[in-house]
Amino acid sequence: MPTNYEDRNYWHQRFASETSFEWLASSEQFLELFALYLRPLPKTAKILHLGSGTSDLHNHLRDCGFSNVTNVDYEPLALERGQELERKRFGDVKTTYIVNDATKMDLPDKYRVFIDKSTSDAIACGGHQAVSLLAEAIRRHIEDDGLWLSLSFSPSRYEGVKTLFDVELVSKLPTPKLNPYEPDIYYYAYALRPKP
Ligand SMILES: C[S@@+](CC[C@H](N)C(=O)[O-])C[C@H]1O[C@@H](n2cnc3c(N)ncnc32)[C@H](O)[C@@H]1O
Repeated sequence: MPTNYEDRNYWHQRFASETSFEWLASSEQFLELFALYLRPLPKTAKILHLGSGTSDLHNHLRDCGFSNVTNVDYEPLALERGQELERKRFGDVKTTYIVNDATKMDLPDKYRVFIDKSTSDAIACGGHQAVSLLAEAIRRHIEDDGLWLSLSFSPSRYEGVKTLFDVELVSKLPTPKLNPYEPDIYYYAYALRPKP
């Protein structure tokens, strides 16, 4: 990733024309990777989709019956795109949309589940402290029995947050190859649980 992926202006310019894009994996793939964690949850569980961008993950969560989903992004255009995608799919808007910087999150609620599909990767471009700030912000807003479900391209994304979270590598998602001689490259699915 180029280093300006942490820069809000980059995303503002990008979302001026981008209406729909999925980083690393489709929403279906993401939900399948984490099905064992999501299926047992009550449908009223409070879910915060962090750095929602122009992903349609909130629509898929709504399709699964989750009724308490919040999309957060620091770029207002991302939330506009999310609302457009939801209205196009369902004809109305039930997801909550909040502009907030994930590294300084200041929200009135706590959440059972944080979902991050490559958002920590973008935030990590802001330097070594950035992912720690993200983890501290999530720790302040996560319920005691909460989960942070993350898909990242980095095998060591959460090495620095183990004082705050137990980090479990759920699975490795092989990336598509253009020819069989290419090396195996994976994306990493993590489940993080807050330490008491
Ligand atoms: C790599 S994209 C991932 C988008 C989406 N999750 C997906 O899978 O397609 C990163 C997203 O995180 C947002 N983002 C980056 N840094 C952020 C921050 N500090 N706070 C909130 N959102 C941020 C960007 O605006 C962008 O929408």
